[in-house]
Amino acid sequence: MTNRKKFIQQITLMAGAFSANSLFNQVHAEEISIANKKVQHLSPTDIAADEDYWSTIQQAFTVSPNIINLNNGGVSPSPRVVQEALDRYNKLTNEGPSYFMWRILDQGREPLRENLANLAGCNKEEIAINRNATEALNTVIYGLDLKPGDEVIGTKQDYPNMINAWKQRALRDGIVYKQTSFDFPIENDEIIVKAYANAITSKTKIIHVTHIINWVGQIMPVRKICDMAHRHGIEVICDGAHSFALLDFTIPDLDCDYLGTSLHKFLSAPIGSGMMFIKKEKIEKIYPLVCSDHPKSGDIRKFETLGTRSFPIEQAIGEAINFQTAIGNKRKEERIRYLKNYWAEKVKDIPKVKLHTSLQSKYSCAICGVSIDGITPGELDSTLFNNYKIHTVGIVWENISCVRITPHVYTRLQDLDKLVNAISEIAAKK
Ligand SMILES: Cc1ncc(COP(=O)(O)O)c(C=O)c1O
Repeated sequence: MTNRKKFIQQITLMAGAFSANSLFNQVHAEEISIANKKVQHLSPTDIAADEDYWSTIQQAFTVSPNIINLNNGGVSPSPRVVQEALDRYNKLTNEGPSYFMWRILDQGREPLRENLANLAGCNKEEIAINRNATEALNTVIYGLDLKPGDEVIGTKQDYPNMINAWKQRALRDGIVYKQTSFDFPIENDEIIVKAYANAITSKTKIIHVTHIINWVGQIMPVRKICDMAHRHGIEVICDGAHSFALLDFTIPDLDCDYLGTSLHKFLSAPIGSGMMFIKKEKIEKIYPLVCSDHPKSGDIRKFETLGTRSFPIEQAIGEAINFQTAIGNKRKEERIRYLKNYWAEKVKDIPKVKLHTSLQSKYSCAICGVSIDGITPGELDSTLFNNYKIHTVGIVWENISCVRITPHVYTRLQDLDKLVNAISEIAAKK
């Protein structure tokens, strides 16, 4: 290939994920579009049970046949097309990093912002791209101008990195961090909203809420919490790590003021990718976590001065968006909920087995907690892996003690049958 041809090919590659020439269009568009046509007359809940449709999606992943990975809540694999994009961008970068990464790859940032904003249903000027939910949410937590005595309400069942960020602010700045506590599962929005409302005082400035509680998968009524908080002049930070690209919602639907999410969970973007949303009119008052030449600017890009990091990871997010969009948010939500219900319904009445998650659609989707009397979460997790090659995670946190099971779009029913069989056998021996 001549140098010029090679150069043109590289530039075409950079036209990237949102061009007609995207890797997704080259690899998957046709087969997924054929599969979509076959089911177009069906509702997302009907499609959820259509194994032919989902086998097309399953084949797009490269997961190991040697283990059954049911800890997708921790981090999810990317489909092959995303891995391929990452490899190509990485190879290109290494042909001349400062040129290809900073001058060529980085031109994909604005189209990516726009496409993330489309997925989130908000203005692109409200989206910053970063490395994970911790970075996104810590940016807001540390960036808020709070005074000693100002109060923040969270819950003991929030994610530790955010709890610790608030505790650090309390230690350093004298803010007051209060925690409610919930006994999940709860099948009543009002109980949850009331718990936050009861903790409000005249000094409360912020409510921090986790959209889907990572430990047991409870879906929290974020919109109702925001409405209640706003009536009191209180802002809401939403931890969307487990909900973004899983539940079919737009960020404006929630009406939260700030939201942070990882993109390497349900979007299946490359590991080490995340996103932050801040309502346009609030950007100005949030200090960036890392320096900026204009820290009080109203431009969301002030949060992206992260120093040298992986632009290949960032740009490969685009192919994950293509994959998500081809399936459709609602179809994906309903399939993953179907998978959760598939195994959970089968084990819920087995003696000694206990579920820690509501099976009502409104209150759960992917994640369900399970325990067996007479065995600790750690022991259950190891038995599932050592005897059945099923990878899960044991959870012992505050008042929660269970094993967390999280399927994803690529999970096969036969894998869940193995889980059901394993749980039945372990429970029978106790
Ligand atoms: C609710 C919740 N928030 C935030 C995070 C942090 O995500 P990350 O490690 O991508 O920063 C997690 C990770 O599992 C989580 O479950």
